[in-house]
Amino acid sequence: MTLSTIPTDLNEPNFVVDMQGIVKRFPGVLANDHVDFELRQGEIHALLGENGAGKSTLMNILAGLYNQDTGVIHVKEQNVSFNSPKDAIDMGIGMVHQHFMLVPTQTVTENILLGLDEPRFRLRLNKYDKKVAQLGNKFGLLVDPSAKIWQLSVGEQQRVEILKMLYRGADIFIMDEPTAVLAPSEIDSLFDNLRTMIHEGKSIIFISHKLQEVMSISDRITVLRKGKVTAEGIETKNTTRQELAKLMVGRDVVFTLDKKVKEAGDIVLSIENVHALNDKGLPALQGVSLGVHSGEVLGLAGVAGNGQRELAQVISGLRNSADGRVLLNGQQISNRPVRSGIDRGVAYIPEDRTHVGSSPNLSVTDNVIMKIYRNPPISKGLAINSAEASSFAEDLKVKYDIIVPTIETPVRLLSGGNLQRVILSRELSGKPSALIAVQPTRGLDVGAIEGVHKLLLEQREAGTAILLISEELEELIALSDRIAVIYEGQIMGIIEDADIETIGLMMTGTKLEEISAPGVG
Ligand SMILES: Nc1ncnc2c1ncn2[C@@H]1O[C@H](COP(=O)(O)OP(=O)(O)OP(=O)(O)O)[C@@H](O)[C@H]1O
Ligand SMILES: [Mg+2]
Repeated sequence: MTLSTIPTDLNEPNFVVDMQGIVKRFPGVLANDHVDFELRQGEIHALLGENGAGKSTLMNILAGLYNQDTGVIHVKEQNVSFNSPKDAIDMGIGMVHQHFMLVPTQTVTENILLGLDEPRFRLRLNKYDKKVAQLGNKFGLLVDPSAKIWQLSVGEQQRVEILKMLYRGADIFIMDEPTAVLAPSEIDSLFDNLRTMIHEGKSIIFISHKLQEVMSISDRITVLRKGKVTAEGIETKNTTRQELAKLMVGRDVVFTLDKKVKEAGDIVLSIENVHALNDKGLPALQGVSLGVHSGEVLGLAGVAGNGQRELAQVISGLRNSADGRVLLNGQQISNRPVRSGIDRGVAYIPEDRTHVGSSPNLSVTDNVIMKIYRNPPISKGLAINSAEASSFAEDLKVKYDIIVPTIETPVRLLSGGNLQRVILSRELSGKPSALIAVQPTRGLDVGAIEGVHKLLLEQREAGTAILLISEELEELIALSDRIAVIYEGQIMGIIEDADIETIGLMMTGTKLEEISAPGVG
């Protein structure tokens, strides 16, 4: 080695990305306000911040989707100005978005080759399947190259997105909330993949709201609050969950909830021996019976895909049951139009906020009146009383702390947390007798989670029967009065004083009575 190749300062870390003074303004909001962000070669750098703090915006700029208003970006010491994602990929930057951009009817390999010049003839696909399999093996990203996308689990689809970027030679990865869509076991394998990628010389930017994940996977952390940096590249080992929460929301966040002891009332929601098929025509629910009492939170735990979604859909009228029935205050609501459940007082916070829970192109106002526009005072004969509608929406905006330029803003422009507040405000303002909440805090920041938890407990106080379907065990244990566990469409048991170990066993198919029986476990 000649002297001239020795770095002048051996202590100076090698930055692969250096963003300085990034400003990005959208109508009515300063999404990035002079943000500095540096990524070192070979690190996992977590980007934290409340919903709407500007994380995705900053990363979309780095990935060539948006242009910054001002500020400079260096990638591998080169001053860059991207006009498209292609430009960013050429510099080795690959972004894995939260919503995958894959073609469901095509194979893994076809999706990976999509947009590249390489030939995609059927006959030649074999050769590329091999290349994809080799790449997958190298990084532990196991997925069948000839499988169609629709046949894959969410975790596998995510691997395809990562492989797509690896195939294009990316060495800087932006992962925008990759764990929000994953089950706990899938998160473990993703983390293994990320560590392998680092081992192979890649660098990773990791966005997540889950502080324990950030603490376990990242080397350094940058925190944004309302578009500004509040902590720049602090070492993970020198900080704590509490400190990070405070940096994110600007106040102390309590991780324990004040759940009042309370006698549950009568059964409001009664699920009786429900059987139902899933989208593929296979049995998803096989005789589920549950009773949810007034003023009770009944938690439903389970690994994703064990019938939770189908159960929520049967209750809300979006899916028919093949057998059994669901009653609300003694009246059947299953196998009836969705409207009849709504009219009788069922509120539904669906898992899929952007498609089922809201209409992206409609305004905040239109979204919050969606369930009540037929009733006075919002309805005026056949028309809508827009003054009433606006004042209703304004009230909810204040009460639920929805941060949005105006109530006429289309909800597709809202951050995840604010969209969830719009849905919650609509569902809870109707004073429901029963509430089905599916993953209500998925993708939310710690402050927003605290807010949603408080709202759910307020509903409990008000006497609503709440069925809380969640994959977050901590959340279930904190909020629920009782926890039922579902496995392959059957209830494994219901426990009052839940502990994580017992729930874990039940989630993998052990019945409660088998655990409590002597000599087992
Ligand atoms: N294309 C856009 N047009 C208008 N406003 C936008 C656009 N994209 C983002 N915003 C606004 O910019 C702000 C920052 O949004 P951004 O999506 O970057 O937040 P985030 O930190 O990724 O939040 P979350 O954790 O909810 O994903 C928000 O107020 C958002 O409503
Ligand atoms: Mg985001």
